[in-house]
Amino acid sequence: MKRILCIGAGYVGGPSMVVIAEKCPHHRITVVDCNPDKIAQWRSDSLPIYEPGLDEAVKRVRDRNLFFSIDVEKGIKESEIIFVSVNTPTKNFGVGSGQAADLQYWEKTARQIVENAESPKIIVEKSTVPVKTAQAMEEILKMNQNGKKMHVISNPEFLAEGTAMNDLEHPDRVLIGSHESEEAIRARQELVDIYAHWVPRERILTSNIWSSELAKLASNAFLAQRISSINSFSALCEKTGADVTEVARAVGMDSRIGARFLAAGIGFGGSCFKKDILNLVYLCHHYGLPDVARYWEEVVRINEFQKERFVLNMIQSMFNTLSGKRICLFGFAFKANTGDTRESPAISIARRLLEENAHVVITDPKALKNARDDLAEIKGAIDFVEDPYAAACGCDAIAVMTEWEIYRNLDYEEVFSSMRKPAYLFDGRNILDHRELQEIGYSVYPIGKPPMVPL
Ligand code: UDX
Ligand code: UDX
Repeated sequence: MKRILCIGAGYVGGPSMVVIAEKCPHHRITVVDCNPDKIAQWRSDSLPIYEPGLDEAVKRVRDRNLFFSIDVEKGIKESEIIFVSVNTPTKNFGVGSGQAADLQYWEKTARQIVENAESPKIIVEKSTVPVKTAQAMEEILKMNQNGKKMHVISNPEFLAEGTAMNDLEHPDRVLIGSHESEEAIRARQELVDIYAHWVPRERILTSNIWSSELAKLASNAFLAQRISSINSFSALCEKTGADVTEVARAVGMDSRIGARFLAAGIGFGGSCFKKDILNLVYLCHHYGLPDVARYWEEVVRINEFQKERFVLNMIQSMFNTLSGKRICLFGFAFKANTGDTRESPAISIARRLLEENAHVVITDPKALKNARDDLAEIKGAIDFVEDPYAAACGCDAIAVMTEWEIYRNLDYEEVFSSMRKPAYLFDGRNILDHRELQEIGYSVYPIGKPPMVPL
């Protein structure tokens, strides 16, 4: 039996530990967090995050071999392996403000481990960190007075929200980086043994520790770059009469490119892509590579351009004024199947619409609470309505922000009859049947396709 601790009970730490607990019933896992409310939620029937399949999995393992606690110090003392998945947001002050990762929680956690460790520990970096973070961690851990051995291992998480449970149970790969000394490789092997309970051995990659840290940033940068690439083409499609879905299909059938992650939309959101790319940009500057920095910076810039383009398109097509018009946002989460709204494109789009004096009505099956928090400081007319039919009633326009399945299956005749005319539909995710909407009478504005005005 191993005693495993995870510090940080968020979107990464929570689901990751639930899956380890389920797959390794003989290990005992404790998840701690500095936020007592969050721990209370993990212990209750109303978990702090929504993830398909998570509720059921938690019920199977909680208080069996998975425990939630606020006692970080006790957790450190008792465990042999410590996963660290505290957040590493973009720094918003001082040197590197707006780009570098803020590692204050990391450092605090490292110090807490040093102060409380009474036996050797394997410390696993789960959070995405700038390359060379392990080195800083090791420096702090060296201060350990008891002379206990601490090994820092990098094991970045590749799960995507909305599909986290499946991603964790059937990962494309698990990456485990360590130093090359015999002891470090032994420590790394302990982690390999844990994952080998359910992940085929050929999918467990081991590497040097810096490659592992950098591979996580690189993966997110490549994924985000694909989205900015297709979004940049969506702008060109709208000018030329090409259809971005057809372009993406043709491009994606090239097996060297692949079909996934080529959906044009209102831009990427989520807690990782922007933060990680900005962090990469900062690292490139730090290592004297301004050209590489500029290359990646453009991926973020195109993402901003795409959101702004969407808003400008709305203004232009609605007679150059949104003043007093009711605009219903279908979805607020940064993607479907999550209640998470961090960096959701809907936040900046809602803000921009409010600046234009529009009346914004927001509906979302899981993200209304977060949406309220995100817009709490923003002035303007905002309503939050659970039912999409009630939300759209009396509106001039609907703008699809999130590709929730329910929005594909609404009765759009009924919605149309309750809206003000002309009724506009801006499909920011290209998920609706545009031809059918046009026939009903909507003015339809997809992404990267010609607009379709009523016949
Ligand atoms: C996020 C990103 O998704 C991930 O890529 C990044 O590397 C880490 O931050 P996530 O799990 O989504 O991971 O973050 P979040 O849901 O904010 O969870 C972090 C948790 O750590 C929070 O619950 C926070 O209360 C906790 N925390 C933070 C501590 O327990 N101690 C601290 O010192 C700081
Ligand atoms: C991402 C990575 O996929 C994951 O491997 C990493 O561990 C964390 O960051 P996540 O942000 O949870 O995961 O979701 P993801 O599915 O990658 O979507 C990110 C954003 O890109 C969403 O806003 C989504 O709507 C958008 N997106 C995705 C597109 O606009 N088009 C696509 O084709 C795919």
